[in-house]
Amino acid sequence: MPSLLDSWKVGTLELKNRIVVSPMCQYMAEESGGPTDWHQVHYGSLAIGGAGLLMVEASAVEGRGRISTRDLGLYADEHTEKLAHITRFAHAHGTKIGIQLAHAGRKADVPGEIVAPSAQAFSDRYACPRALEVSELQDIVQAFVRSARRAIQAGFDFLEIHAAHGYLLHQFLSPLSNHRTDEYGGSLGNRMRLTREIIGAVRAEAGATPVGIRISATEYVPGGYDVHEAALFAAEFARDGVDAIDVSSGGNVPAAPPVYPGYQVPLAHAVRAAAGVPVIAVGMLDDAHLAEHVVQSGQADAVAVARGFLRNPHWGHHAIRELGGTPQPPGSYARAYA
Ligand SMILES: Cc1cc2nc3c(=O)[nH]c(=O)nc-3n(C[C@H](O)[C@H](O)[C@H](O)COP(=O)(O)O)c2cc1C
Repeated sequence: MPSLLDSWKVGTLELKNRIVVSPMCQYMAEESGGPTDWHQVHYGSLAIGGAGLLMVEASAVEGRGRISTRDLGLYADEHTEKLAHITRFAHAHGTKIGIQLAHAGRKADVPGEIVAPSAQAFSDRYACPRALEVSELQDIVQAFVRSARRAIQAGFDFLEIHAAHGYLLHQFLSPLSNHRTDEYGGSLGNRMRLTREIIGAVRAEAGATPVGIRISATEYVPGGYDVHEAALFAAEFARDGVDAIDVSSGGNVPAAPPVYPGYQVPLAHAVRAAAGVPVIAVGMLDDAHLAEHVVQSGQADAVAVARGFLRNPHWGHHAIRELGGTPQPPGSYARAYA
């Protein structure tokens, strides 16, 4: 079976190992959505940290789809060149870099109107969204397409559609937040329609660039979807052409599932079996031996680490060394691993 340290392929993309830096919002962007010095330093440091794939945080496809006014965006052409500084640095150091395309829907906390599948607030701390008209949904699809185009122009190697954690696409997928009676609500086929349209349109725009999706594979509460339904929609997304599925959970309604190292791995395993495309597992996997076990046991093809990389931006090199491999940091850092 493969090792965490082995190379792997996502679509046409060759990755030097199966360590992924999970996307993490920094809330440090300009109010106009552009990256700041923070992003250069933060992603620069992670880009030399040993991971095969560095994911840039959830980046909004529309201004009203930002979680906060300090979110990174891909909704204006001016964002493209600024993000290109980050991708150039990653590539100069042999690291592939992806970006997450996101729309917060009813979880947006920005001035002005917010939108969702149905007029139901996430909680009493959030504004009540306006339910999107069917006629507006193609604008959302096109916002994802334009952002995908900008991301590719900026040099990103991988695009990940964010359909997890209670954001807009998850809101459509879930019977807890989608109360529509038109062709975008009700049955699972209808609830996944918008996400499938976005996958199709982004896939067409992306050409050779691989496209993945992050899903929440269970909602943990009665009335929400479970892993069996998630496996069904994941398989459909794979048929629609996603090259990888990043398997997380929850976030659409308050829930407090038991969390422990590897708690989401069984979800990744189930999705992998159903969808037949590479799957990334995530969630308290920053013990190198546990991460290695997840890959070696065939439960997932790669492991994403989030907080572990905040604690130690060079977590990848440490994991490689712990597993008996040879870290290959930039020459300036080589003496630290000699
Ligand atoms: C500071 C922070 C920001 C995050 N932002 C995002 C994000 O932009 N997109 C996303 O899908 N998940 C986001 N997450 C979730 C992580 O990607 C990851 O799934 C989660 O933290 C579990 O992994 P861990 O146990 O290795 O931290 C964030 C997590 C943290 C800690």
